[in-house]
Formats: sequence, structure tokens, C-alpha cells
Amino acid sequence: MYNNKKPKYCGSTTALKVLKDVDLTGKTILITGTTAGIGRETARSLALKGAHVVIANRNVNLSEELRDEIYKETSYRKIDIIQLDLNSLASVKHASEEYLSKGWPLNVLILNAGVNKPPNRATKDGYESTFGVNHLGHFYLTYLLMNKLRESAPSRLVVVSSDLHSRSGIKPSASLDEKLNKLIPNPPEEDIALGRGSQTFTSIVAFVSKPFTKNFEQGAATTVYCAASPFAENESGRYYADCNDAEKDLHKALARDESLQDALWSKSLEFIKKFERNNVTHL
Ligand SMILES: NC(=O)c1ccc[n+]([C@@H]2O[C@H](COP(=O)([O-])OP(=O)(O)OC[C@H]3O[C@@H](n4cnc5c(N)ncnc54)[C@H](OP(=O)(O)O)[C@@H]3O)[C@@H](O)[C@H]2O)c1
Repeated sequence: MYNNKKPKYCGSTTALKVLKDVDLTGKTILITGTTAGIGRETARSLALKGAHVVIANRNVNLSEELRDEIYKETSYRKIDIIQLDLNSLASVKHASEEYLSKGWPLNVLILNAGVNKPPNRATKDGYESTFGVNHLGHFYLTYLLMNKLRESAPSRLVVVSSDLHSRSGIKPSASLDEKLNKLIPNPPEEDIALGRGSQTFTSIVAFVSKPFTKNFEQGAATTVYCAASPFAENESGRYYADCNDAEKDLHKALARDESLQDALWSKSLEFIKKFERNNVTHL
């Protein structure tokens, strides 16, 4: 347990302020989706505090640009790049194999990448794209790296979420099947290539909310709080906003619905087992 008193954090707190007295030397952190937005600042601030940061993106050129920009700010050279397209389970498998082949520990896994409102699009595996990229790709990545996370304990898993979770349109009174069908919509009949412009364990599993009104330095603060703050080290399974526990703001009727959690878990496992059985290897 960290003995100092937790400072007062609020919506304007920046990622580097959260990490002010934190030394991340010796920690290895994998983060998805750092070519833009909040992921970019998350990677930067963790790297500036000494972490070995592995950035997992589909665009290698943009990843190299980010790495080189961060290197201009520090003499510390500890950023690695892994190619990952969450739109493809084969790519997720390939990325996790590459990670494991390096022999790195995994102290923190941050699931940040995502797409917002890609209407009627499908992943390479034929799933509706918001479900496929934001959930299933990350689910599979975590599944493949879970042993490494456990081995590397104390470790943390941070899942970036949104205030918008409360506006899913799913009625808590709906049947389990109806809820599941909303979470896993049918894919479109014709596949359309998904692009970003289409715009939606001694460990911690943290669900981070990110408001729309912050700059990137502020937007990344809650993620790095969950990933690296000593004040969060003994907490698990909570929902956070503005670097504070925000369980009171969580839409608990759905988010804490254990039957729905179990059903989503089982379906996700079923999908990745199906993928593994079919042994799809093309990227
Ligand atoms: N923007 C908001 O206000 C807001 C609010 C609440 C929650 N969120 C969530 O927070 C997370 C980050 O948001 P942001 O605002 O920083 O988003 P952003 O600026 O759009 O960046 C999203 C990141 O995800 C990556 N990504 C998208 N599809 C991918 C794929 N198939 N494989 C690998 N990486 C992929 C993007 O890479 P590319 O450069 O290759 O596209 C980019 O690096 C997302 O999960 C988003 O849903 C955002």
C-alpha cells in the first residue's frame, strides 16, 4: 500500500501530473492504438517516465513517427513497435506471438484502440466492426497474453471505456438474448474495408472513462492513473473517471449484470475458438 496521501485529481489533471513522482523504469507496458488521440499521449507520458513502452498499431509508419517524436524529448530509448490490426483475429494472433517471442515481461496491458460509429461495416472475420475491433480483437489479445500478464505480476489490465456506455440503448429489463444481440449485432451482408476515418494478476482491471471536452494530456490522465499510479495498485475491477473511482457513475444495471457478462464472455470465447479451429493465417 502506498503511504502518501492521494493528491486531488480532477478533469484538468494531466497524465504527466499523475505520474509526477512515479518512476516506471523496469516496467513493460503494451498499449494499443497510439497513432492518434489519447493513446498517443498515454504512450508518450509512460515513456517519459522510464517505462519500456510497446506500441501496437496497424500503421507502422505513424508508429515510427511517434517513437521518434518521443525520442526527441528523452535520451531514454525504450519504445518498441508491434503491428496489430484489431480488425483481424489473425493479426491479433500474430502480434501476440511476436510479443511473446521477444521474452519481454508484461506489467501493464492497456486496451485503448477503438473505432467509433462505423455503421454497417464488418471485420475481416465477418463481425460487426464496433464489436469486432473494440471488443473481440482486444478480448483475443488479452486471452493470448494473459499468462504473460500473470507471470509478470504485479500487473495491471486497463480497458478504456466511455461515458457513452450508459447510452447503449439496451434496456436492463430486456431478455438476455436481446441484450446480447445488441452487443453483438449482425454484420452487414457485404464486407466493407474498415478505415479509421469511418468514424466509435495482482492486478487491476480498470475501466476508464474519457470525456469529450479534454485535451489529450488531460484525456490520458485516467488511463495512466489506472496503469501506473501507486494509488491504484491495490484496486481491481473498478470504473474510473478523472483519475478517481467513478463506480457511482457506472450504468450498473448493465455493466454489472453478471449473466450478461458471462454470456458475452462465453460468446467471445466461442468466436475465438472457432477462429483457432479454422486456423485462419492470412493477414
Ligand atoms: N474520442 C472520444 O471522445 C472518446 C470518448 C470516449 C471513449 N473513446 C474511446 O477511447 C479510445 C481512444 O479514443 P481516441 O479518441 O484517442 O480515438 P482516435 O483518436 O480515433 O484513435 C483511435 C486509435 O485506435 C486505433 N485503431 C482504430 N482501429 C484500429 C484497428 N483496427 N487496429 C488497431 N488500431 C486501431 C487508431 O489507429 P489508426 O491510426 O490506424 O486508425 C488510433 O490509434 C477508443 O477506444 C474510443 O472508442 C473516445
